[in-house]
Amino acid sequence: MIMTQTAVSTASRDAEHEPLLEVDDLKVEFRVGHGVVSAVNGVSFTLEKGRTLAVVGESGSGKSVTAQAIMRLLQTPPARVTGGRILFQGRDLLQLSESAHRAVCGEHIAIVFQDALAALNPVYSIGFQLSEALRRRRHLSRSRARARAIELLQLVEVPNASQRVKDYPHQFSGGMRQRVMIAMALALEPEVLIADEPTTALDVTVQAQIMRLLGEIQAEREMGMILITHDLGVVAEVADEVNVMYAGRVVEQAPVEQIFARPGHPYTQALLRSIPRLDRKGHQLDAISGRPPELTRIPAGCPFHPRCDRAEDICRSDPAPALRELAGGRSAACQFAE
Ligand SMILES: Nc1ncnc2c1ncn2[C@@H]1O[C@H](COP(=O)(O)OP(=O)(O)OP(=O)(O)O)[C@@H](O)[C@H]1O
Ligand code: SF4
Ligand SMILES: [Mg+2]
Repeated sequence: MIMTQTAVSTASRDAEHEPLLEVDDLKVEFRVGHGVVSAVNGVSFTLEKGRTLAVVGESGSGKSVTAQAIMRLLQTPPARVTGGRILFQGRDLLQLSESAHRAVCGEHIAIVFQDALAALNPVYSIGFQLSEALRRRRHLSRSRARARAIELLQLVEVPNASQRVKDYPHQFSGGMRQRVMIAMALALEPEVLIADEPTTALDVTVQAQIMRLLGEIQAEREMGMILITHDLGVVAEVADEVNVMYAGRVVEQAPVEQIFARPGHPYTQALLRSIPRLDRKGHQLDAISGRPPELTRIPAGCPFHPRCDRAEDICRSDPAPALRELAGGRSAACQFAE
């Protein structure tokens, strides 16, 4: 059958738009001495196959806690998931037993953190650590697992991989260690990769190299990637969609080009004004005035109202606005966004 251009692009778009992971109204809190920290307050989003969803927002907005809830990495107590669903291949991860969850995440969902040194075991060689999962989960022989470990190091562009596979974590530079952690995350060919500020601790040139590499691998393998980052330059380069988080909520959700061209939420607009831009050399940056709220006492109404230059009475009196659809595939949680 000959497919027309439209039919081909519709078919490939359908494949692309296959939902992989759906987070629905997720709520997470921490019980601490002085009260309850409401860290995630009804987060919903869908990650599609082959797409990169960037998650941005100031420190403490709930980006990592959302990722850790998906991976079940939160220590309970003090953490408690108090609501919502996390659907992967139609199954709610929150309902799975510990061992069933470990099996799903081990096979299908992987995470890369900022701190590779903490994630790698200092007493085993990189080769051993890479091989171990392959032997246990894929039942590869020792020599085949070793060969695959070398291939994985080559994939993440570690030079001289067949020698370096014998080395221990401390023998690698920060950037190389981060590549090793990415190799480990990719070992079992996950469908979903969560990267939580994977390059923040590295120098700018190495950051760019690793982000480019991650982007290439994600596209080649058609993985879904959740990329948590403070770097809006990286967002512009690699993301397809963007979630903007504030005080444990997603306050704006939009295709990447729309976020930059037509940000709908006053918080997104303020975030964009606070980043350096090459085309605005010499201009003063606008810091976002005020501070994010204490998550033990989030203000009533729109949580952003104390810092918002467009706030009106209704922002204080009505409940926190839910995400509302706007033109251009955008949604924003603001009374007045358009
Ligand atoms: N173990 C814990 N006990 C109490 N509060 C916690 C705990 N872990 C996280 N939090 C709180 O949850 C909130 C969300 O934290 P989270 O780590 O998700 O922020 P983030 O958006 O990833 O910030 P950053 O950009 O700094 O990494 C923060 O206020 C944080 O203090
Ligand atoms: S709802 Fe009101 S306070 Fe909240 S972001 Fe919109 S204008 Fe600002
Ligand atoms: Mg974080």
